Amino acid sequence: MKTKLIAPSLLAADFGNLQRDIEMVNNSQADWLHIDIMDGRFVPNISYGFPVMKTVQQHSKKFVDVHLMIVEPDQYVDEFIDHGADLISVHYEACTHLHRTIHHIQSRGIKAGVVLNPSTPVLMLEDIIADVDLVLLMSVNPGFGGQKFIENTYKKIAETKDLILSNNSTALIEVDGGVNLENAAKLFEAGADVLVAGNAVFSAESPERTIELMKV
Ligand code: DX5
Ligand code: ZN
Repeated sequence: MKTKLIAPSLLAADFGNLQRDIEMVNNSQADWLHIDIMDGRFVPNISYGFPVMKTVQQHSKKFVDVHLMIVEPDQYVDEFIDHGADLISVHYEACTHLHRTIHHIQSRGIKAGVVLNPSTPVLMLEDIIADVDLVLLMSVNPGFGGQKFIENTYKKIAETKDLILSNNSTALIEVDGGVNLENAAKLFEAGADVLVAGNAVFSAESPERTIELMKV
């Protein structure tokens, strides 16, 4: 996988024009399509589920990056894989047997990532970093789009980078929440490989141009 990737988050799309917005992403320089699944239990919000995944599977030409913000993710990972996920990330805070969950996802032939909430230290990943394909650092408390970026994320990117290097891990670093045109370049420079952007892309006058600008 190459670095400096942009993953527009479908959460900020216009659901009355879902196919149109997925096609905008297809025709843009975006690399991944980020899918936020919220259950109203792990996070205080409910987003969407399999009917939307079905539409994504039918129309998306991009790598499908699924972010599960749900309790007991093991119950649902197979169904998300059957609905076309290319990568599934599960929260460290939601997994009792994280090693088993990560290896199960990979055994189905797709990539597996682990997500950390803003208050969860990077050092919790010491014994899983060699196994994961991606570390997703939340730069807002998960549950809602359009929140303010938490500056402590820069420190966590540096710590994650060190952990990856000292364990010969091939994991990518993804950052999610409050990413915009002002901080994108700085985040890539700090060591992020993938940036998720919801409102910054879909609320922009030209979403395609915004995606393009985030990559430079
Ligand atoms: C937040 C989600 C994010 C969200 C990002 O819980 O995980 O992916 O869609 O939205 P913005 O970019 O608007 O902060
Ligand atoms: Zn997300």
